[in-house]
Parts: sequence; structure tokens; C-alpha cells
Amino acid sequence: MISLERLMSRFETMAAITAPGLPGINRLAFTDSDWQGREYLMSLMRDARLSLHVDSFGNVIGRRAGKDESLPAVMFGSHGDSVPSGGNFDGVVGILSAIEVMQSLDEDGITTKAPLECVLFMCEESSRFGAATLGSRAMCGELTEEDTLRYADKNGVTLHDVLMSRGLSPASLASANYLSYHDALPRAFLEVHIEQGKVLDTSHEKIGVVTGIAAPTRMRVHIHGSADHSGATPMELRRDGMCAAAEAILAVEQSANEASGIATKKSDDENDKAAAPASRPPVVGTVGVVEAAPNAMNVIPGEVTLGIDIRSIDYDAKRAVVDKIKSRIDDIMTRRGISYDIEPISDEKPIAISKEMVDFLSSICEEHGVAYRAMMSGAGHDAMHWAERVPTGMLFIPCRDGISHNPAESAKPEDIVTAARLLEDAVKKLGNT
Ligand code: GLV
Ligand code: MN
Ligand code: MN
Repeated sequence: MISLERLMSRFETMAAITAPGLPGINRLAFTDSDWQGREYLMSLMRDARLSLHVDSFGNVIGRRAGKDESLPAVMFGSHGDSVPSGGNFDGVVGILSAIEVMQSLDEDGITTKAPLECVLFMCEESSRFGAATLGSRAMCGELTEEDTLRYADKNGVTLHDVLMSRGLSPASLASANYLSYHDALPRAFLEVHIEQGKVLDTSHEKIGVVTGIAAPTRMRVHIHGSADHSGATPMELRRDGMCAAAEAILAVEQSANEASGIATKKSDDENDKAAAPASRPPVVGTVGVVEAAPNAMNVIPGEVTLGIDIRSIDYDAKRAVVDKIKSRIDDIMTRRGISYDIEPISDEKPIAISKEMVDFLSSICEEHGVAYRAMMSGAGHDAMHWAERVPTGMLFIPCRDGISHNPAESAKPEDIVTAARLLEDAVKKLGNT
């Protein structure tokens, strides 16, 4: 049986696994704390008597044999890494509830027809290498050794080096492709996650059945201003990379606002006149990274790098915003006489979840008497990659005040247990059909 006490004590253990001296949870992908969290999660998988497979990217797949081992597995899981100063629920809810389901089935002596696989994906968060959901990309055959040489963290350490230092094998990344060691893809993929927004917290439904996942387009803009003396350089002779960056940042906000049918907030007065959101699908744009060199009080910023993340459930709407941002950045830099270049990082396709899967998970909520709503996911998830290939479903639980990627992230134990019970039921049903 799904155990609330066991689940809660495991959340507590995970909360203590974090890089010291920083607020919130810090388990950046492949750092010591992430690795320690992974060790702990692997020990829980072993306790649930799963047989473990570790692939060349470090993803861990814990398998419970089915009555008919020739059938494709039902797979479910999530990630254990975090953003800097994040919370203990993003990803953790999904992997701990997946392990709990396996433990519960084992204790109840239930063997499904199809094998079951509980998966811990590595490097879901883009915080360290700029690109997200890398573990699931590797399992879907979409990550190459060249990619690992290209992706580097802010200290210039490549993902390739990081994998090697963990005893993993970027040179044989092809062997992480699920189809390189199985004849068929999983029968289905399921993921439980916190919503990371305010919809459920406001509506008071207990579960969100995800209908689609917005996907990011990401890029770095490298602005090549001129680092000059902050006292001796007159204003008209400057090529200030930071001022150019400031305009570019506002261009991102303005472009996403326009696409979403809302006015850009400039003053309280103008806010009052803000247009109501249009019915078109919203696009969100964020500049989450600003790096300025040399970052000194008495030097005009020269080299400035911006990390831009644009998302929507509508790929065309997102592309239009990306194009608008690029053209605005070009205008800004031309006007200021500053050269720049844009480094594309990713351009992912939003995903629609099949109606059959939404109906299936909704019917399970109804059977359990759980109030639910069908809803979109604004955040990205490993499920995106599976949804392109196999029937894929996601269950959201509310998080307090919709806060996520923040130390204040929180979810109610009873909601976590509800989601774990629904997941168990879905797994049993899928595993027996
Ligand atoms: C994952 O947390 C994301 O950035 O959507
Ligand atoms: Mn996250
Ligand atoms: Mn997540």
C-alpha cells in the first residue's frame, strides 16, 4: 500500500541532500549533491527489489519483471536534480511516488502482465548546461557526444568532462538509447509532478491531468560592447554592452507581452489601461541569465551574455516571438553600433498529450473520487520526449501559492499520496492491458 509516512520520511531525507551554505535545495546536475541524491534514490529502488540498469548518461532504470517479459514495459518516473536554490518537490515528487508505487506493488505481491520500469532521469534542469531534459533526450536517441562537447557550465566545464568525471561514457551515448537495449519502446510513460503554477492552488482541484506541454526555445546572445574606463570615457563615445543588454531584455518582455495580448507595464497609470489577455495562446519570455565582463564598478561593461528562454504551447506563436526578438535585438545593436552574435541552444516542439491518455487518467481520478482538471503545462518535463513516441500522461499536484524553482516550494502530503495512488492504479491498468 502507498504509505504516507514512508513517502514523507523520504522527502525529508532528500531535503537534507543539498550543497551546503546555500538557501533552498541545490542539486545541480551531476554535482556532488545530485550524485548523492541519485545514490539514495538508487538505494530506494533496490529496497523495492527492482533490478537496476544504469545507462551511459547515468539515467537509472529500475525494472520490475512482468508475467510476460516479452511485452513492452510501462515506464514512469522523473528527475532528482534541482535549479540553484530550488525546492524539494520539483522532480522529487515524481521519482519518489514512482518508487513508492514499485514498493507498494512489491509489498502487495502484485505482478502485472507487462514489466514495469521506474526511471530516474539525469539533468532535467537547464540551470547548469543551458539545455533541459538531457537524460530523457539521451534515452530517446536525441543526444549526441557532440552535444556533450558543446554544452558547458558557467565555469566552462563541458558536459562531456562532467560525464567522464562521474565514470560515465559520453563516447557511447548511443547505448543510452532505449531502443539500443530493448526491442520496443515502452508501452506508455507516466510522470507525476508539481504544477509549478497557480491554477490548482487557486481552483482547489487536487489533480491536474496534463493535456499539453509548452516547450522552450533557448538562446544565448553575446553582446560585444567595449570595456572602457568608466570615468574617462564620455557618454557619447561609449559602446556599453550592459545598456544594450538592458534594451534587449525589455525587447524580450515586450515581444512576449504583445504576443500574449497584454500591455507592457511601464507605469501604474499604463497598467490600469493594460489590455485584457487575448484568446490567442500566450507566449512567455524570460532573460534568466545576465553575465557581464569584467563586472567591475569602474569599467564600462564590454562583453555581456544574455540567456533567453521563450515558451508557448503554440509553436508558431513562439517562433513569431523568437523572430521578433531577434529583429529587435538587431535594431538595438545596429543603432548602438555594437556587434553581437546569437548562439542557439534549443528549439523544442510543444507537445499535445493524446485525448485517449487524458481520458484514461481523468477516468482514474473519477473512480477515486478526486477533483481534477485538464490543464496545460507551462513548464518543460522529461515526458515531452516520450510523448512524441509513446502514449504519455502527466498528473499534476498543487503547489503552495504556485511557487516553484524557489526554496519556498511546497506541496501537501495528502496531495502527494493521492497522486501516488492514482499513479499506482494507472500503472496497474496499463500493465495489465
Ligand atoms: C523545468 O523546470 C523547466 O525549466 O521547465
Ligand atoms: Mn524544474
Ligand atoms: Mn521538474
